[in-house]
Amino acid sequence: MNSGSALTFLCASSLALAISFHSLVAVAVDTTTAYPSIPGTDTADCSLAGGDSNRILIPPRREVYGDGRIFDISHRYVPEMPVWESKDGLGSFLWLLASMKNGSRANNSVMKLPTHTGTHVDTPGHVFDHYFDAGFDLDTLDLEVLNGPALLVDVPRDNNITADVMKSLNIPRGVRRVLFRTLNTDRRLMFQKECDLSYVGFTVDGAKWLVQNTDIKLIGVDYLSVAAYDDLIPSHLVFLESREIILVEALKLDDVPAGIYDVHCLPLRLVRAEGSPIRCILMK
Ligand SMILES: *[C@@H]1O[C@H](CO)[C@@H](O)[C@H](O)[C@H]1NC(C)=O
Ligand SMILES: *[C@@H]1O[C@H](CO)[C@@H](O)[C@H](O)[C@H]1NC(C)=O
Ligand SMILES: *[C@@H]1O[C@H](CO)[C@@H](O)[C@H](O)[C@H]1NC(C)=O
Repeated sequence: MNSGSALTFLCASSLALAISFHSLVAVAVDTTTAYPSIPGTDTADCSLAGGDSNRILIPPRREVYGDGRIFDISHRYVPEMPVWESKDGLGSFLWLLASMKNGSRANNSVMKLPTHTGTHVDTPGHVFDHYFDAGFDLDTLDLEVLNGPALLVDVPRDNNITADVMKSLNIPRGVRRVLFRTLNTDRRLMFQKECDLSYVGFTVDGAKWLVQNTDIKLIGVDYLSVAAYDDLIPSHLVFLESREIILVEALKLDDVPAGIYDVHCLPLRLVRAEGSPIRCILMK
């Protein structure tokens, strides 16, 4: 048996409350679907699976880590996730080129996916051709902007993010990173295969208001575009023109209390690309 089994916990079914964020809303899950508990967070009677060849391997899949201190705010990459302006979702994007079942020494997959899939970041070259040509790619993004204190705010659910909405949020000067939770999260749009263009995003006047009246340099939103569909390109232009603002799109903001966190976002270091999948977490 390989030593990876140390990660596998088996829990008594009577105590199978998922120790994950779900436990905070008291959702009981049966053992076959329960997320295994996180060591140190668990009062249930769990035992380490030993070298028993009949043991069930249950990979941990979590939304929250470290005693509720770390929230994963990236979406999982799965074939049924929505992609921009498509009804069909992402579809197959991962292939096992070499497999142990077919005699290879190891399993090796390849993946192919649009750079703006799932939780992702836009660079200035996304909407400014001369920035693209000049090389403002992923490798030029400021990691300091992508990592540091951040505010998660709830946006009024009855509107796009207009200048009036921005004003009403009263975000103080000096706040440099803001994640905007909108109606998109309530509608669970990122969990629907078909792209829904009635999502909420920034209108041009909302984008201008943010640029002119705040110190925000990292903007996070909860659907595939930071800009409302009717203002798609104009709002992007307002944000990306200065090359100081970084846009992170399609964040998973479900079940995270609004408030102040440390955000950590790391994109792939893709040279000459204008977008990249990005892994983001919030830490209390
Ligand atoms: C290797 O790939 C096979 C599919 O061919 C899969 O069933 C198996 O679990 C993989 N093994 C490892 C160690 O990931
Ligand atoms: C293994 O090889 C067979 C025959 O070439 C092929 O049909 C099958 O898809 C392969 N399986 C994997 C997991 O690569
Ligand atoms: C936001 O704007 C889009 C068009 O850009 C529209 O379809 C949608 O209904 C608006 N949402 C709200 C809540 O006003």
